[in-house]
Amino acid sequence: MNYTLEVRNLINNKNLKYIIYTMGCSLNENDSEKISGMLEEMGFSKTDELEDADFVIFNTCCVRENAEERLFGKIGEIKKLKETKDLIIAIGGCMMQEKEMLDKIKKSYKYVDIVFGTHTMQDLPEDVYKVLTKKEKVTDVIDIDGEIIEGLPIRRNDKYRAQVTIMYGCNNFCTYCIVPYVRGRERSRDPEDILKEIKDLANNGYKEVMLLGQNVNSYAKDGFKYCKEKPKSDIDSFAKLLRAVNDIDGIEKIRFISPHPKDFSQDVIEAIRDCKKVSKLVHLPLQAGNSKVLKEMNRNYTKEQYLELVQKMKDMIPNVAFSTDIIVGFPGETDEEFEDTLDVVRKVGYDQIFMFIYSKRNGTVAAKREDQVPEEIKHKRFDKLKELFDSSVDEINKKYIGTIQEILVEGYSKNNKDMYTGRTDSNKVVVFKPNNKIKEGDIVNIKILKDHKWYLEGEIY
Ligand code: SAH
Ligand code: SF4
Ligand code: F3S
Repeated sequence: MNYTLEVRNLINNKNLKYIIYTMGCSLNENDSEKISGMLEEMGFSKTDELEDADFVIFNTCCVRENAEERLFGKIGEIKKLKETKDLIIAIGGCMMQEKEMLDKIKKSYKYVDIVFGTHTMQDLPEDVYKVLTKKEKVTDVIDIDGEIIEGLPIRRNDKYRAQVTIMYGCNNFCTYCIVPYVRGRERSRDPEDILKEIKDLANNGYKEVMLLGQNVNSYAKDGFKYCKEKPKSDIDSFAKLLRAVNDIDGIEKIRFISPHPKDFSQDVIEAIRDCKKVSKLVHLPLQAGNSKVLKEMNRNYTKEQYLELVQKMKDMIPNVAFSTDIIVGFPGETDEEFEDTLDVVRKVGYDQIFMFIYSKRNGTVAAKREDQVPEEIKHKRFDKLKELFDSSVDEINKKYIGTIQEILVEGYSKNNKDMYTGRTDSNKVVVFKPNNKIKEGDIVNIKILKDHKWYLEGEIY
């Protein structure tokens, strides 16, 4: 049965609208774009206003406790709305792959119509069909390594910048992290499918692609064993994939998240250096600066190895810049060990740091430890790290003044409607006055004139 078509016939002419709340990372966002694509094929149209919605979908995240709290905050609000109108509520995503959470939703939130996991998103049309015809509650969650589903429709959030998932899942089992448990094993997509997707994007006017995966530089290391057929392409590494994407006409900028320092081989560094379109801002998750903590996190590199890698990239790639993720307050981390994190931050000079307070995740190895760091100390360390980074931002931004930056015009700035906005190669927001020769989607040269804390200001050059 073609459930998409069946639902389309059922809701025909009713003008039903959906709203989707995306609560997680870029992979989660990319999934939401596919959920939107499926819903639109079923005949629903998108709204950003909850009051107008007939179908509410939550795409959840469970990487930290506050991501989960956001769901419970919002869901109460939706319950009130459901009392006043016909409303379908669906909850999907990573959090639904956690058994306790699934049980909690089923037990205490009985008004939720559909629950789906990360491995069953593609069944949404069938789930919706069941709710509409049989008025029954649907739970569609399975715990498997995962499979690769190609060909889902997609409704992208942006017109010029697109996200492309190149691999699913994670095999690393960092001891603090829940992702491998809720996303399954590493599964690399067939390179031909990826390249076809990106060529189609280029043909549709997209200029920038962000390649996504939990560990992109281990792309292809699974031997493509989850692909339906053995790939015909000779692309068998992340470096080769980068070079192939770089050859696609129309695509002007390539970014990728997240690579893992342990898999940052020479060929990947060379590909970044050689490929003109590949951003020279490398996201290199540090997590912690102390080698003992890193070992306990199961990160597979030491402080020294991380710094050596940074130095190697600085030597090999002109104008390379770095961003990173850092966790403070991993179980057992002492003040002294935390100093190593600050030391690495000083030595590398990051353009951007995503900072997180360690959050205990049930089912992970680190959650079982008894030497959890008290909340107060974790917060103190967070503030200290933030202070250190904030004090370096001015210095980093000043370096841009007088430089010419190539920028993709993304459109008018949300905060200043007279100005256009875009990003430097290193992902810094730039605003500038438009003229009538340039339009959204163009690549322009901008001379940077002024720095602000969170953006740069310039003029067309
Ligand atoms: N696969 C990517 C990102 C995974 S999740 C990587 O390895 O870099 C994004 C970030 O969330 C991680 O880099 C980590 O810094 C943070 N994170 C993951 N689990 C966490 C936890 N239990 N508490 C706090 N931060 C966490
Ligand atoms: Fe989590 Fe580590 Fe995998 Fe990243 S690499 S998703 S931090 S287990
Ligand atoms: Fe969250 Fe799942 Fe991403 S847990 S960070 S949405 S992979």
